[in-house]
Amino acid sequence: MNGFHGSDLVGFLGAAYPWVKSAHLTFVIFWMAGLFILPRFYVYHHETTPGSAEDRAWIEREKRVRSIILTPAMLLVWLFGLLLAFNIGAFGQGWFSAKLALVVALTGYQGWMGAYGRKLAGGARPLENKTLRIMNEVPGIAAVLIVTLVIVKPF
Ligand code: HEM
Repeated sequence: MNGFHGSDLVGFLGAAYPWVKSAHLTFVIFWMAGLFILPRFYVYHHETTPGSAEDRAWIEREKRVRSIILTPAMLLVWLFGLLLAFNIGAFGQGWFSAKLALVVALTGYQGWMGAYGRKLAGGARPLENKTLRIMNEVPGIAAVLIVTLVIVKPF
């Protein structure tokens, strides 16, 4: 057993398929790391006084997570994921439609987080801490569902 199957070599990617899959999963890890850490930063940021040195430090950290980790990782996960999907003709299959809906939602969540970060940077604290903590659970729940869909392919 070498970790991939003969059927992985069919399609326009040919022998590159497992390489593309490795790249996909590497950037999935980076993307998820960013999605887990950014809302945690927001919880800490909430506790600072707008305009303070601490407030400015969180604004800078958050900006770096978004521009260095989240945005590039998300784009690369999409790029490699779509290559895999076209290669295996995943469109129309039940598990893939469900996964696609979840990753679109996760991408939307990232957009929402970017907008929320800009509000924090402007001195606003729109959400209750408790609501923000509940929002923090979104990427974890999405990851459980997505991994189950791609590995188990229950439908
Ligand atoms: C952003 C858009 C994404 C697209 C278009 C996409 C698409 C795909 C496709 C087509 C495969 C190949 C499945 C197979 O060979 O059976 C795959 C593999 C995989 N994806 Fe994604 N994916 C995306 C995002 C994600 C995310 C966010 C996660 C996890 C949180 C994830 C986790 C995985 C895993 C674990 C595999 C490996 C499954 C296997 O061993 O075959 N993907 N992806």
